[in-house]
Amino acid sequence: ELPKRVQLKEVGPRDGLQNEKGFIPTEEKIKLIDRLSETGLDYIEVTSFVHPKWIPQLADAVKVLKSIKRNPNVTYAALVPNMKGLERALECNVDEVSIFMSASEGHNQANINKSINETFPILKEVVEGALAAGKNVRGYVSTVITCPYDGYTEPTQVVRIAEKLFEMGVTEISLGDTIGVGVPTQVDTLLIEMLRHFKSEQLAMHFHDTRGTALANVMTSLMHGITKFDSSIGGLGGCPYAKGASGNVATEDLLYMLQEMGIETGVQLERVTEVALSMENVLGKKLSSKQVMIARGE
Ligand code: HMG
Ligand code: MG
Repeated sequence: ELPKRVQLKEVGPRDGLQNEKGFIPTEEKIKLIDRLSETGLDYIEVTSFVHPKWIPQLADAVKVLKSIKRNPNVTYAALVPNMKGLERALECNVDEVSIFMSASEGHNQANINKSINETFPILKEVVEGALAAGKNVRGYVSTVITCPYDGYTEPTQVVRIAEKLFEMGVTEISLGDTIGVGVPTQVDTLLIEMLRHFKSEQLAMHFHDTRGTALANVMTSLMHGITKFDSSIGGLGGCPYAKGASGNVATEDLLYMLQEMGIETGVQLERVTEVALSMENVLGKKLSSKQVMIARGE
């Protein structure tokens, strides 16, 4: 039996905008987040407090988080890689902290300049600091299906990393198919292994749609009882430190599918599609989600 209700975690302002070539003006980022806050979404990842040299697109993280209108029904989260990032995030009173690392050495090294074993103590400190400040912590594990540098990822390796992060005190882990290569049979294999160790409520899925398999992968996850999915307005997204990564599953396309299956989200499809459409002007390009194409009359 499929879940009756699903929570969407909007990552467009972070995963989406980190992967744009140009710098999106701070005012536009604030407007985007404020508009997303009025769609019924109750979770928005707004930016990241990583090194501005590594992700110049989000160098305005402090300004963005300090300037948005906080809707009390929305949790505003941000990525944090280390203590320096945590200081900046707490200074602007982020609601929730997201730590991140990869299941594979190659991507972990390329993305955060550390081996997997070097990463654990750094993240442990961040989790302890965030919890001490009263913040909930979410953990991302990237490259859970395949790594662009190391190839196929064994599900047992994903379990190993997730166990470490849960031990630190994260409440939920988002499993990332970072480069969007996964297919339903692989997601099935991964979730069978994960659900031997963890409850479905402890997991979220984060699918990139590089090869058009994201919605099929969502469906497979729903069949395993997963009720939390990351998605990005307009299907924006990608990791600059993962060769070949492109957009996340589009929030509006995911919403359409869930809505037509009778699964509640509390999010208004029309409003989300309007916000996505408005981003075409800001970004100076056409977006490729199906709902946006339909709204354009194509
Ligand atoms: P590093 O150079 O190894 O850092 O970078 P370091 O600790 O050696 O410090 C070097 C200098 O940077 C120091 O300054 C620090 O203060 C400064 P100095 O003393 O030399 O003057 N510094 C910072 N400044 C501001 N904010 C900070 C910060 N940290 C250090 N937070 C680091 C290591 C992790 C910082 C770097 O590699 C980095 O920022 N990487 C982030 C890459 C990234 O954001 N990738 C995209 C997000 S992950 C993703 O997209 C995947 C996901 O969507 C899930 C999926 O799809 O799978 C989440
Ligand atoms: Mg991502």
